Amino acid sequence: MSEIPGRSRPTAAIIGGGVIGSGWATRFLLNGWDVRFFDPSEDAERILHAVIARGRDALPALCDVVPEEGTLTIASSTADAVVGARYIQESTPERIEVKRAVLRSIQEACEAEAIVASSTSGFMPSELQDGSLRPEQIIVSHPYNPVYLLPLVEVVGSDNVSKELLDRASRYLESVSMKPVVLGAEVPAHVGDRLLEALWREALWLVKDGVATTGQIDDIITHSFGLRWAQKGLFETYRVAGGQAGMKHFLEQFGPCLEWPWTKLMDVPDLNEELIDRIVEQSDEQAAGRTVMQLENERDRNLVALLKALREEDAAAGAFLNEVNRRHQGEE
Ligand SMILES: NC(=O)c1ccc[n+]([C@@H]2O[C@H](COP(=O)([O-])OP(=O)(O)OC[C@H]3O[C@@H](n4cnc5c(N)ncnc54)[C@H](O)[C@@H]3O)[C@@H](O)[C@H]2O)c1
Repeated sequence: MSEIPGRSRPTAAIIGGGVIGSGWATRFLLNGWDVRFFDPSEDAERILHAVIARGRDALPALCDVVPEEGTLTIASSTADAVVGARYIQESTPERIEVKRAVLRSIQEACEAEAIVASSTSGFMPSELQDGSLRPEQIIVSHPYNPVYLLPLVEVVGSDNVSKELLDRASRYLESVSMKPVVLGAEVPAHVGDRLLEALWREALWLVKDGVATTGQIDDIITHSFGLRWAQKGLFETYRVAGGQAGMKHFLEQFGPCLEWPWTKLMDVPDLNEELIDRIVEQSDEQAAGRTVMQLENERDRNLVALLKALREEDAAAGAFLNEVNRRHQGEE
Protein backbone atom coordinates (compact mmCIF):
# COMPACT_ATOMS: atom_id res chain seq x y z
CA MET A 1 0.00 0.00 0.00
CA SER A 2 1.57 3.29 -0.96
CA GLU A 3 1.91 5.82 1.82
CA ILE A 4 -0.44 8.76 1.55
CA PRO A 5 1.31 12.08 2.37
CA GLY A 6 0.07 13.54 5.64
CA ARG A 7 -1.54 10.27 6.70
CA SER A 8 0.13 7.60 8.79
CA ARG A 9 0.33 4.03 7.55
CA PRO A 10 -2.40 1.67 8.73
CA THR A 11 -1.53 -0.75 11.53
CA ALA A 12 -2.21 -4.47 11.69
CA ALA A 13 -1.84 -6.48 14.90
CA ILE A 14 -0.69 -10.07 14.57
CA ILE A 15 -1.49 -12.25 17.58
CA GLY A 16 0.22 -15.66 17.49
CA GLY A 17 3.27 -15.83 15.27
CA GLY A 18 3.97 -19.43 14.34
CA VAL A 19 3.89 -20.67 10.74
CA ILE A 20 0.78 -18.69 9.84
CA GLY A 21 1.07 -15.61 12.06
CA SER A 22 4.62 -14.94 10.85
CA GLY A 23 3.38 -15.26 7.30
CA TRP A 24 0.64 -12.72 8.00
CA ALA A 25 3.10 -10.31 9.64
CA THR A 26 5.33 -10.59 6.56
CA ARG A 27 2.42 -10.05 4.17
CA PHE A 28 1.29 -6.84 5.92
CA LEU A 29 4.79 -5.50 6.55
CA LEU A 30 6.05 -6.01 2.99
CA ASN A 31 2.91 -4.41 1.62
CA GLY A 32 3.42 -1.20 3.58
CA TRP A 33 1.37 -1.67 6.75
CA ASP A 34 2.88 -1.13 10.19
CA VAL A 35 2.76 -4.36 12.14
CA ARG A 36 2.47 -4.91 15.89
CA PHE A 37 3.30 -8.53 16.69
CA PHE A 38 2.73 -10.61 19.82
CA ASP A 39 3.59 -14.25 20.55
CA PRO A 40 4.63 -15.44 24.04
CA SER A 41 7.01 -18.12 22.74
CA GLU A 42 10.74 -17.53 23.10
CA ASP A 43 11.24 -18.77 19.56
CA ALA A 44 8.69 -16.47 17.96
CA GLU A 45 10.96 -13.59 17.02
CA ARG A 46 13.50 -15.90 15.39
CA ILE A 47 10.75 -17.59 13.33
CA LEU A 48 9.31 -14.22 12.39
CA HIS A 49 12.60 -12.81 11.09
CA ALA A 50 13.29 -16.00 9.10
CA VAL A 51 9.85 -15.74 7.46
CA ILE A 52 10.27 -12.01 6.73
CA ALA A 53 13.60 -12.83 5.03
CA ARG A 54 11.85 -15.46 2.89
CA GLY A 55 9.16 -12.97 1.95
CA ARG A 56 11.74 -10.36 0.97
CA ASP A 57 13.50 -12.93 -1.25
CA ALA A 58 10.28 -13.85 -3.05
CA LEU A 59 8.68 -10.44 -3.46
CA PRO A 60 10.74 -8.90 -6.29
CA ALA A 61 9.68 -11.73 -8.60
CA LEU A 62 6.03 -10.95 -7.98
CA CYS A 63 6.02 -7.15 -7.85
CA ASP A 64 7.14 -4.79 -10.60
CA VAL A 65 7.55 -2.08 -7.98
CA VAL A 66 8.32 -3.39 -4.50
CA PRO A 67 6.22 -1.40 -1.97
CA GLU A 68 7.90 0.50 0.83
CA GLU A 69 7.92 -1.68 3.95
CA GLY A 70 6.04 -0.76 7.11
CA THR A 71 7.53 -0.74 10.60
CA LEU A 72 7.61 -3.83 12.79
CA THR A 73 6.99 -3.53 16.54
CA ILE A 74 7.33 -6.51 18.86
CA ALA A 75 4.61 -6.01 21.47
CA SER A 76 4.83 -7.19 25.07
CA SER A 77 1.25 -8.47 25.31
CA THR A 78 -1.91 -8.93 23.30
CA ALA A 79 -3.30 -5.69 24.73
CA ASP A 80 -0.13 -3.82 23.81
CA ALA A 81 -0.26 -5.22 20.26
CA VAL A 82 -3.85 -4.36 19.40
CA VAL A 83 -3.93 -0.74 20.54
CA GLY A 84 -4.46 1.47 17.50
CA ALA A 85 -4.74 -1.46 15.06
CA ARG A 86 -7.49 -1.31 12.46
CA TYR A 87 -7.03 -4.96 11.48
CA ILE A 88 -6.19 -7.74 13.96
CA GLN A 89 -5.32 -11.28 12.86
CA GLU A 90 -5.40 -14.07 15.44
CA SER A 91 -3.27 -17.16 14.54
CA THR A 92 -3.00 -19.11 17.79
CA PRO A 93 -3.26 -22.93 18.11
CA GLU A 94 -6.40 -24.57 16.73
CA ARG A 95 -8.09 -25.11 20.09
CA ILE A 96 -11.41 -23.41 20.76
CA GLU A 97 -10.69 -22.59 24.43
CA VAL A 98 -7.35 -20.97 23.48
CA LYS A 99 -8.92 -18.94 20.67
CA ARG A 100 -11.86 -17.75 22.80
CA ALA A 101 -9.50 -16.62 25.58
CA VAL A 102 -7.22 -14.82 23.11
CA LEU A 103 -10.16 -13.18 21.35
CA ARG A 104 -11.42 -11.94 24.71
CA SER A 105 -8.02 -10.38 25.52
CA ILE A 106 -8.01 -8.78 22.08
CA GLN A 107 -11.50 -7.32 22.47
CA GLU A 108 -10.80 -5.99 25.96
CA ALA A 109 -8.08 -3.75 24.50
CA CYS A 110 -8.86 -3.09 20.84
CA GLU A 111 -11.04 -0.45 19.26
CA ALA A 112 -14.68 -1.39 18.66
CA GLU A 113 -14.26 -0.42 14.98
CA ALA A 114 -11.25 -2.70 14.42
CA ILE A 115 -11.69 -5.93 12.49
CA VAL A 116 -10.79 -9.03 14.48
CA ALA A 117 -10.06 -11.93 12.12
CA SER A 118 -9.09 -15.49 12.94
CA SER A 119 -6.90 -17.76 10.79
CA THR A 120 -8.77 -20.83 12.07
CA SER A 121 -8.74 -23.77 9.67
CA GLY A 122 -11.93 -25.29 11.00
CA PHE A 123 -13.98 -23.23 13.46
CA MET A 124 -16.91 -21.18 12.23
CA PRO A 125 -17.13 -17.48 13.14
CA SER A 126 -20.21 -18.12 15.32
CA GLU A 127 -18.23 -20.65 17.37
CA LEU A 128 -15.47 -18.06 17.90
CA GLN A 129 -18.01 -15.31 18.69
CA ASP A 130 -19.74 -17.40 21.38
CA GLY A 131 -19.27 -15.59 24.73
CA SER A 132 -17.26 -12.77 23.15
CA LEU A 133 -17.60 -9.08 24.04
CA ARG A 134 -18.64 -7.93 20.53
CA PRO A 135 -19.60 -10.88 18.29
CA GLU A 136 -20.22 -8.51 15.36
CA GLN A 137 -16.51 -7.68 15.22
CA ILE A 138 -15.15 -11.23 14.77
CA ILE A 139 -14.73 -12.90 11.39
CA VAL A 140 -12.58 -15.63 9.84
CA SER A 141 -9.84 -14.72 7.35
CA HIS A 142 -8.45 -18.12 6.40
CA PRO A 143 -5.15 -17.97 4.46
CA TYR A 144 -2.95 -20.60 2.85
CA ASN A 145 0.64 -21.38 3.77
CA PRO A 146 2.95 -19.63 2.85
CA VAL A 147 0.78 -16.58 3.55
CA TYR A 148 3.35 -14.14 2.07
CA LEU A 149 3.23 -15.94 -1.31
CA LEU A 150 -0.24 -17.41 -1.82
CA PRO A 151 -2.78 -14.66 -2.45
CA LEU A 152 -6.05 -16.32 -1.57
CA VAL A 153 -7.91 -15.70 1.68
CA GLU A 154 -11.37 -17.05 2.53
CA VAL A 155 -13.37 -14.38 4.37
CA VAL A 156 -16.26 -15.69 6.46
CA GLY A 157 -18.85 -13.91 8.55
CA SER A 158 -21.92 -15.07 10.46
CA ASP A 159 -25.43 -13.73 11.07
CA ASN A 160 -23.86 -11.34 13.60
CA VAL A 161 -21.53 -9.73 11.06
CA SER A 162 -22.53 -6.89 8.72
CA LYS A 163 -21.82 -6.82 4.99
CA GLU A 164 -20.07 -3.48 5.58
CA LEU A 165 -17.56 -5.14 7.90
CA LEU A 166 -16.87 -7.96 5.41
CA ASP A 167 -16.42 -5.38 2.62
CA ARG A 168 -13.99 -3.41 4.76
CA ALA A 169 -12.03 -6.56 5.64
CA SER A 170 -11.84 -7.38 1.92
CA ARG A 171 -10.51 -3.90 1.13
CA TYR A 172 -7.79 -4.22 3.78
CA LEU A 173 -6.82 -7.65 2.46
CA GLU A 174 -6.76 -6.36 -1.12
CA SER A 175 -4.42 -3.60 0.04
CA VAL A 176 -1.88 -6.30 0.98
CA SER A 177 -2.23 -7.88 -2.48
CA MET A 178 -4.53 -10.70 -1.37
CA LYS A 179 -7.54 -12.07 -3.17
CA PRO A 180 -10.40 -12.25 -0.66
CA VAL A 181 -13.24 -14.64 -1.43
CA VAL A 182 -16.22 -13.91 0.81
CA LEU A 183 -18.16 -17.13 1.45
CA GLY A 184 -21.95 -17.22 1.25
CA ALA A 185 -22.34 -19.04 4.57
CA GLU A 186 -20.26 -20.32 7.46
CA VAL A 187 -19.51 -24.06 7.52
CA PRO A 188 -16.90 -26.04 9.47
CA ALA A 189 -13.51 -25.88 7.66
CA HIS A 190 -14.79 -23.25 5.19
CA VAL A 191 -14.21 -24.31 1.54
CA GLY A 192 -10.53 -25.08 0.92
CA ASP A 193 -9.97 -27.25 3.97
CA ARG A 194 -13.24 -29.04 3.39
CA LEU A 195 -12.04 -30.05 -0.08
CA LEU A 196 -8.57 -30.93 1.16
CA GLU A 197 -9.97 -32.99 4.02
CA ALA A 198 -11.81 -35.20 1.54
CA LEU A 199 -8.60 -35.76 -0.42
CA TRP A 200 -6.59 -36.34 2.75
CA ARG A 201 -9.08 -38.98 4.00
CA GLU A 202 -8.89 -40.84 0.71
CA ALA A 203 -5.08 -40.65 0.74
CA LEU A 204 -4.94 -42.13 4.25
CA TRP A 205 -7.10 -45.05 3.11
CA LEU A 206 -4.92 -45.64 0.06
CA VAL A 207 -1.77 -45.79 2.23
CA LYS A 208 -3.49 -47.97 4.84
CA ASP A 209 -4.77 -50.40 2.22
CA GLY A 210 -1.28 -50.65 0.65
CA VAL A 211 -2.54 -49.30 -2.69
CA ALA A 212 0.14 -46.61 -2.91
CA THR A 213 2.93 -45.10 -0.81
CA THR A 214 2.98 -41.46 0.30
CA GLY A 215 5.58 -40.79 -2.42
CA GLN A 216 3.46 -42.42 -5.13
CA ILE A 217 0.38 -40.46 -4.10
CA ASP A 218 2.35 -37.22 -4.18
CA ASP A 219 3.72 -38.10 -7.65
CA ILE A 220 0.19 -38.79 -8.85
CA ILE A 221 -0.86 -35.34 -7.63
CA THR A 222 2.18 -33.29 -8.70
CA HIS A 223 2.55 -34.82 -12.16
CA SER A 224 -1.12 -34.61 -13.15
CA PHE A 225 -4.06 -32.81 -11.61
CA GLY A 226 -1.85 -30.72 -9.30
CA LEU A 227 -0.45 -29.05 -12.42
CA ARG A 228 -3.92 -28.58 -13.85
CA TRP A 229 -5.29 -27.07 -10.64
CA ALA A 230 -2.60 -24.36 -10.54
CA GLN A 231 -4.04 -22.80 -13.66
CA LYS A 232 -7.63 -24.05 -14.07
CA GLY A 233 -9.64 -25.03 -11.04
CA LEU A 234 -11.89 -28.06 -10.67
CA PHE A 235 -14.88 -26.86 -12.66
CA GLU A 236 -13.03 -25.30 -15.59
CA THR A 237 -10.85 -28.39 -15.85
CA TYR A 238 -13.93 -30.59 -16.05
CA ARG A 239 -15.57 -28.25 -18.53
CA VAL A 240 -12.61 -28.79 -20.85
CA ALA A 241 -12.69 -32.54 -20.11
CA GLY A 242 -16.23 -32.57 -21.50
CA GLY A 243 -14.82 -31.70 -24.94
CA GLN A 244 -16.64 -29.38 -27.32
CA ALA A 245 -19.94 -30.27 -25.67
CA GLY A 246 -18.63 -28.76 -22.41
CA MET A 247 -19.94 -29.05 -18.87
CA LYS A 248 -23.34 -30.56 -19.62
CA HIS A 249 -21.74 -33.44 -21.49
CA PHE A 250 -19.19 -33.94 -18.72
CA LEU A 251 -21.92 -34.13 -16.08
CA GLU A 252 -23.96 -36.57 -18.16
CA GLN A 253 -20.93 -38.76 -18.84
CA PHE A 254 -19.42 -38.87 -15.36
CA GLY A 255 -22.52 -38.23 -13.26
CA PRO A 256 -23.31 -41.94 -12.83
CA CYS A 257 -19.82 -42.58 -11.32
CA LEU A 258 -20.90 -40.60 -8.28
CA GLU A 259 -23.13 -43.57 -7.41
CA TRP A 260 -20.27 -46.04 -7.72
CA PRO A 261 -18.02 -46.92 -4.77
CA TRP A 262 -15.03 -44.90 -6.02
CA THR A 263 -14.37 -43.21 -2.70
CA LYS A 264 -14.60 -44.08 0.97
CA LEU A 265 -16.31 -40.75 1.60
CA MET A 266 -17.04 -40.17 5.28
CA ASP A 267 -15.33 -43.34 6.56
CA VAL A 268 -12.21 -42.29 8.41
CA PRO A 269 -9.41 -44.87 8.70
CA ASP A 270 -8.33 -45.64 12.25
CA LEU A 271 -5.22 -43.51 12.64
CA ASN A 272 -3.58 -46.14 14.85
CA GLU A 273 0.13 -46.51 15.61
CA GLU A 274 0.65 -48.90 12.71
CA LEU A 275 -0.76 -46.44 10.16
CA ILE A 276 1.05 -43.47 11.72
CA ASP A 277 4.37 -45.40 11.64
CA ARG A 278 3.82 -46.37 8.02
CA ILE A 279 3.07 -42.80 6.94
CA VAL A 280 6.01 -41.36 8.91
CA GLU A 281 8.41 -43.99 7.52
CA GLN A 282 7.29 -43.43 3.92
CA SER A 283 7.36 -39.68 4.34
CA ASP A 284 10.94 -39.84 5.75
CA GLU A 285 11.96 -41.90 2.74
CA GLN A 286 10.37 -39.33 0.44
CA ALA A 287 12.20 -36.44 2.13
CA ALA A 288 15.52 -38.27 1.56
CA GLY A 289 17.28 -36.38 4.34
CA ARG A 290 16.08 -32.90 3.36
CA THR A 291 15.25 -30.69 6.35
CA VAL A 292 11.94 -28.84 6.66
CA MET A 293 13.84 -25.62 5.90
CA GLN A 294 15.22 -27.12 2.68
CA LEU A 295 11.73 -28.27 1.73
CA GLU A 296 10.37 -24.76 2.43
CA ASN A 297 13.07 -23.24 0.25
CA GLU A 298 12.20 -25.62 -2.59
CA ARG A 299 8.50 -24.85 -2.15
CA ASP A 300 9.05 -21.09 -2.27
CA ARG A 301 11.30 -21.26 -5.35
CA ASN A 302 8.80 -23.47 -7.15
CA LEU A 303 5.83 -21.29 -6.22
CA VAL A 304 7.64 -18.16 -7.41
CA ALA A 305 8.52 -19.90 -10.70
CA LEU A 306 4.89 -21.00 -11.18
CA LEU A 307 3.53 -17.56 -10.35
CA LYS A 308 5.99 -15.90 -12.74
CA ALA A 309 4.98 -18.28 -15.52
CA LEU A 310 1.30 -17.63 -14.81
CA ARG A 311 1.98 -13.86 -14.86
CA GLU A 312 3.44 -14.25 -18.35
CA GLU A 313 0.31 -16.10 -19.46
CA ASP A 314 -1.89 -13.62 -17.55
CA ALA A 315 -3.71 -16.64 -16.16
CA ALA A 316 -5.23 -17.62 -12.77
CA ALA A 317 -3.14 -16.29 -9.82
CA GLY A 318 -0.73 -14.72 -12.34
CA ALA A 319 -3.55 -12.61 -13.81
CA PHE A 320 -4.43 -11.55 -10.28
CA LEU A 321 -0.83 -10.48 -9.56
CA ASN A 322 -0.73 -8.52 -12.83
CA GLU A 323 -3.90 -6.71 -11.80
CA VAL A 324 -2.40 -5.91 -8.37
CA ASN A 325 0.76 -4.57 -10.04
CA ARG A 326 -1.27 -2.36 -12.38
CA ARG A 327 -3.23 -1.07 -9.39
CA HIS A 328 -0.08 -0.26 -7.42
CA GLN A 329 1.43 1.56 -10.41
CA GLY A 330 -1.76 3.56 -10.81
CA GLU A 331 -1.54 4.59 -7.13
CA GLU A 332 1.96 6.04 -7.55
N1 LIG B 1 -0.41 -24.40 9.22
C1 LIG B 1 -1.24 -24.20 8.22
O1 LIG B 1 -1.02 -24.65 7.08
C2 LIG B 1 -2.48 -23.35 8.42
C3 LIG B 1 -3.12 -22.81 7.28
C4 LIG B 1 -4.21 -21.95 7.46
C5 LIG B 1 -4.67 -21.69 8.75
N2 LIG B 1 -4.04 -22.25 9.84
C6 LIG B 1 -4.55 -21.89 11.17
O2 LIG B 1 -3.70 -20.88 11.73
C7 LIG B 1 -3.67 -21.01 13.16
C8 LIG B 1 -2.22 -21.13 13.62
O3 LIG B 1 -1.64 -22.27 13.04
P1 LIG B 1 -0.05 -22.44 12.88
O4 LIG B 1 0.14 -23.56 11.93
O5 LIG B 1 0.58 -21.14 12.65
O6 LIG B 1 0.32 -22.94 14.37
P2 LIG B 1 1.72 -22.80 15.12
O7 LIG B 1 1.70 -23.82 16.19
O8 LIG B 1 2.85 -22.78 14.15
O9 LIG B 1 1.63 -21.34 15.77
C9 LIG B 1 0.80 -21.01 16.84
C10 LIG B 1 1.47 -19.88 17.60
O10 LIG B 1 0.57 -19.36 18.58
C11 LIG B 1 1.35 -18.97 19.69
N3 LIG B 1 0.48 -18.84 20.85
C12 LIG B 1 0.03 -19.80 21.70
N4 LIG B 1 -0.76 -19.24 22.65
C13 LIG B 1 -0.81 -17.90 22.38
C14 LIG B 1 -1.44 -16.79 23.01
N5 LIG B 1 -2.20 -16.96 24.10
N6 LIG B 1 -1.26 -15.55 22.47
C15 LIG B 1 -0.50 -15.36 21.38
N7 LIG B 1 0.14 -16.40 20.75
C16 LIG B 1 -0.02 -17.64 21.25
C17 LIG B 1 2.39 -20.07 19.83
O11 LIG B 1 3.52 -19.63 20.60
C18 LIG B 1 2.73 -20.33 18.37
O12 LIG B 1 3.84 -19.55 17.95
C19 LIG B 1 -4.54 -22.22 13.52
O13 LIG B 1 -5.82 -21.77 13.84
C20 LIG B 1 -4.57 -23.01 12.20
O14 LIG B 1 -5.73 -23.79 12.07
C21 LIG B 1 -2.95 -23.06 9.71
